[in-house]
Amino acid sequence: MEILRVNNFSVTYDGEHNAADHVSFSMEQGDIVCIVGESGSGKSTVLHGVLGLQSPGAVSKGRVTLFGSDLSKLSKAELMKLRGEQVAMIFQDTGRYLNPISRVGRQFDAFLRYHVRMSDDELHALEKDMLQRVHLQDVDRVLSAYPFELSGGMRQRVGIAMAMALKPKLLLGDEPTSALDVTVQAQVVRQMMDLRDKYGTSLLIVTHNMGVAAYMSDYLGVMQRGRLVEWGRTEDVIRDPQTDYTRKLLKSVIGLNDARLKGAAV
Ligand SMILES: Nc1ncnc2c1ncn2[C@@H]1O[C@H](COP(=O)(O)OP(=O)(O)O)[C@@H](O)[C@H]1O
Ligand SMILES: [Mg+2]
Repeated sequence: MEILRVNNFSVTYDGEHNAADHVSFSMEQGDIVCIVGESGSGKSTVLHGVLGLQSPGAVSKGRVTLFGSDLSKLSKAELMKLRGEQVAMIFQDTGRYLNPISRVGRQFDAFLRYHVRMSDDELHALEKDMLQRVHLQDVDRVLSAYPFELSGGMRQRVGIAMAMALKPKLLLGDEPTSALDVTVQAQVVRQMMDLRDKYGTSLLIVTHNMGVAAYMSDYLGVMQRGRLVEWGRTEDVIRDPQTDYTRKLLKSVIGLNDARLKGAAV
């Protein structure tokens, strides 16, 4: 089932240059899609478009269809409902959205209670489970801590745990693991993939990290100066990239990503 279609989506911030330039792609339920591109290539602009978020002054064109609804036709209330329950977003600095002076557990409680009905026991079991999945140690201590008592990487993992807790149908990530060190990054990436395997969650992740993208995705896109210059099944893109730019990005991770790249070459 198709859950997302982005059709000729363009955004300009200054009326002249397109930060996103006629971007089109679609994804089916259960797909893991990664879009790679260097800083400034328009990844965040596209991802925000999928959520119907826009910076002041931005002008967009084209159409985004999410779970069969044309985003431009949804009311604010309908959009909010969609965002909370069907779609969740992990920002690069998701941990920063935590209130620094309220305990993590209280914020996690409030977040979950806003969206689902659960007993206190169920709530706390879910919170602990999610925090363990992002490989936080001593989850009781994390829940009773204030965000300022945690490291930036720990706060980011709390944010990821919260986004994953509602088991959204579609999880969006804007460089979700870039701020984490490499070992933790790999663990968190695997947990996100596990959501798909267990709950059929679709993932749309934008990142500048070709290694992560090639490793986790079923479909891979490459953005350059606002355009989606490459798109296809990840195996196909790795085996037969259509642009020199993609070839260059892939070259830089050969070796780091041997298993996937070798697997694709067979
Ligand atoms: N709020 C904004 N106002 C003006 N220009 C912006 C804004 N957000 C992004 N841009 C510009 O749009 C282009 C794409 O940015 P962005 O989508 O953030 O790229 P990426 O996420 O790939 O780094 C860049 O040239 C950036 O400077
Ligand atoms: Mg960005």
